[in-house]
Amino acid sequence: MTVKAKLVLGIETSCDETGVALYDTIEGLKGHKLYSQVKLHARYGGVVPELASRDHIKKLLPLVRGLLKDTKIDINLIDSIAYTKGPGLSGALLVGTTVANALGYSLKKPVIGVHHLEAHLLSPLLSNPNLKFPFVALLVSGGHTQLIQVGGIGQYKLMGETRDDAAGEAFDKTAKLLGLPYPGGALLSELARDGDASKYPLPKPMINSDDLDFSFSGLKTAVAHLVQKLNGPKVRDPKTLKADIAASFQDSVTEVLTEKCYRALRLDGAKSLVIAGGVGANTELRRKINEKANTIGCKAYYPPFEFCTDNGAMVALIGALKINEGIYGANPFDIKPRWPLGA
Ligand code: KG4
Ligand code: ZN
Repeated sequence: MTVKAKLVLGIETSCDETGVALYDTIEGLKGHKLYSQVKLHARYGGVVPELASRDHIKKLLPLVRGLLKDTKIDINLIDSIAYTKGPGLSGALLVGTTVANALGYSLKKPVIGVHHLEAHLLSPLLSNPNLKFPFVALLVSGGHTQLIQVGGIGQYKLMGETRDDAAGEAFDKTAKLLGLPYPGGALLSELARDGDASKYPLPKPMINSDDLDFSFSGLKTAVAHLVQKLNGPKVRDPKTLKADIAASFQDSVTEVLTEKCYRALRLDGAKSLVIAGGVGANTELRRKINEKANTIGCKAYYPPFEFCTDNGAMVALIGALKINEGIYGANPFDIKPRWPLGA
């Protein structure tokens, strides 16, 4: 019996990226488009929710049109529409659900509400179709730092999480202390490349604690004190100084994340580790995780770099995995701004 391929349109609008993608259940990703609002929010030092929603309204339909044009796919060939239902900013999510349901209604196709964190968690499947369950996943983004036991699609158990700031949030706040624009995570990691991590060693919070939790807000405070102490009139080369601080900060965060992943794998017995979310693009984190995974006979899986941060491809992928769950004529205002994974 031949299985008929189905085509899913994915729509991501949970925060400050407008993402769309087409995913074929047999051939995989057919194409994707992403518009980042980073420049729009940069001068405010963070995401302004009202501006985010207004910009999603402007960009979403032209992106869908552009995607259909580039992939030369007729809109009527779409079998299902997946959109990010939550968690995220209410206004931003409303744009995605309204457009998804309007398209579903006019095309007479079912619509699937996707959990944003589930999309991040399973995003390594975009480039590693052979990744097998069960695995342990580290979700490290601007809003979350969680270790999750993944038994299968829809089977998620929280093993540990941050007690205060998320790792990405700590990267962004520290980058701001070093004078970098928002969101500074990737820029800080670039700066760290030229720095000496051993010059100003910083604390590695909770690295030896007997659990799988994290805490990053104290580390940011330690950087603030260090910057205050060192940034006196005698500092001759502020660029080197900043690079050294960035390297030290990155070393502390990545060391703690790696150690906790290792502990989670040991406790769980899983042989595969998934790293997902924006901070998963950090090359130093990937280097440390791979090195450790090798020593314990485990393998680490990552999404492609371009799909670490928010995107439509991971949403379309979940839609393809849950194609039979789509509801035709679903509620156009069906969003869950606060939505713990597994609830
Ligand atoms: O997953 P994501 O796009 O959005 C959320 O759902 O939060 O993650 C964005 C976060 C930001 O905090 C950003 O600074 C961080 O990921 N990030 C990085 C890197 N690239 C993005 N942090 C460290 N190193 C990177 N290379
Ligand atoms: Zn995200």
